[in-house]
Amino acid sequence: MMKISFLTTLRFKITLFITTLLLVTATLFTLLTVQTMNRQVMNSLMKRAEALSKSIAAVAPYSILAGDLLAIDNISWRVKEANEDIQYAAVTNSRFEILTHTDMSKIGQVFSRSVADAITETKDGTRIYQIKDEADSFEIQAPMTFNNKQIGNVIIGINRSSLLDARSETLKRIGVGMAVTMLLGLGCILVLSSFITKPIKELSRGVNELKVGRRTKLNIFSHDELGNLTKSFNQMTDLTTRQQERLHSYAQELEDSYVSTVKVLTAAIDARDPYTLGHSTRVAKLAVRIGKAIGFSRQELEDLEIASLFHDVGKLKMPDYILLKNGPLDPEEHRQILAHCEYGAAILGRASSLQKYIPAVRHHHEWFNGEGYPDGLRGDDVPLHAAIIAIADAFDAMTSVRPYKKSFCQDDALQELTRCSGRQFNPWLVEVFQQALASDPVLAEQFSSRG
Ligand SMILES: [Fe+2]
Repeated sequence: MMKISFLTTLRFKITLFITTLLLVTATLFTLLTVQTMNRQVMNSLMKRAEALSKSIAAVAPYSILAGDLLAIDNISWRVKEANEDIQYAAVTNSRFEILTHTDMSKIGQVFSRSVADAITETKDGTRIYQIKDEADSFEIQAPMTFNNKQIGNVIIGINRSSLLDARSETLKRIGVGMAVTMLLGLGCILVLSSFITKPIKELSRGVNELKVGRRTKLNIFSHDELGNLTKSFNQMTDLTTRQQERLHSYAQELEDSYVSTVKVLTAAIDARDPYTLGHSTRVAKLAVRIGKAIGFSRQELEDLEIASLFHDVGKLKMPDYILLKNGPLDPEEHRQILAHCEYGAAILGRASSLQKYIPAVRHHHEWFNGEGYPDGLRGDDVPLHAAIIAIADAFDAMTSVRPYKKSFCQDDALQELTRCSGRQFNPWLVEVFQQALASDPVLAEQFSSRG
């Protein structure tokens, strides 16, 4: 399975994409809010200052005409005290000579200001100025008129810092709100990405299991398109599994039929000589017992059994007069008897599926010391299956009744094997065989009552 780093997972990509989207949205929202709040703060400040100036300008002309400057002074003070953002309030005549001022030391002076150009001017002549070098301070100048004649001005200095403080507080709250929203959003993103990637991960697991031949029923986490896909995957897996099982069953039937054919064939070989009837089957039984004792796998045991059944297949090529001859063989007949190993290998070589049994069949008469035939192999060069068959073949031959020789009892046959161990037979396999026979009384019984 290909290893995927966390940075390339679908979950990471979805999370990154939605988080970026959320951050951009939050930033834009915050910028827009700050801009709107700044504008509202400014508007609200201007409207209030303008309203205050106008309210003083509405009552001041009568006091000026009545010479009651104390009343105007009183109003100015009240306005300043009631509004903490008002820095000063002053009333001048039309020549800008200060009549009243919240800073009493300036009364009688000509009003001088340090302001930039007017930011705005209303229809009735009210002007708003920005104070130079003080970004948050403004001055509002409202004209005082009486009978349509300007008789003076009301001037108010105002600072917006207190409003800005209030704005900062609001912004802090918005910031906290945004942070909480972001955290909640992140949680939702993780849940969402998990919701999306879980079925995909499950599908990926199923595909990987299928690749190594394992069938897994996948969990269906949702009833959407991904859920349907998982369901289809499960149906597809069921179908392929059923087909595999059917194929396996056909293969098993084919194999069984093949083994049956082999058994029939070997029975036919053995039946040519009434004294060797059942020889190949008995050799196969003994060989498989040795194979089990040395820990062969199921497949190795099956191969050994079939090779054992085939070990004398070369005798098919041998004429009856040689095979069934009771008397001594002449050199040519003897040569032909020895050649049955090569004949067997040649017969098996004609079918590709049987070629794997050739080493066992060709070399089952090799000797451990190299004096056997047909190739004079020695020691571990003799194929293991051939060395096992050699012992099983000899043991069955010794314990069987033959017309031209006396049969051995089981103990004598085992002694003969021991005597030939290291010379004709592989000594390790002789020992394994003897132990296997000693530990398997049923098998031992089958080979003890025929002598
Ligand atoms: Fe043989």
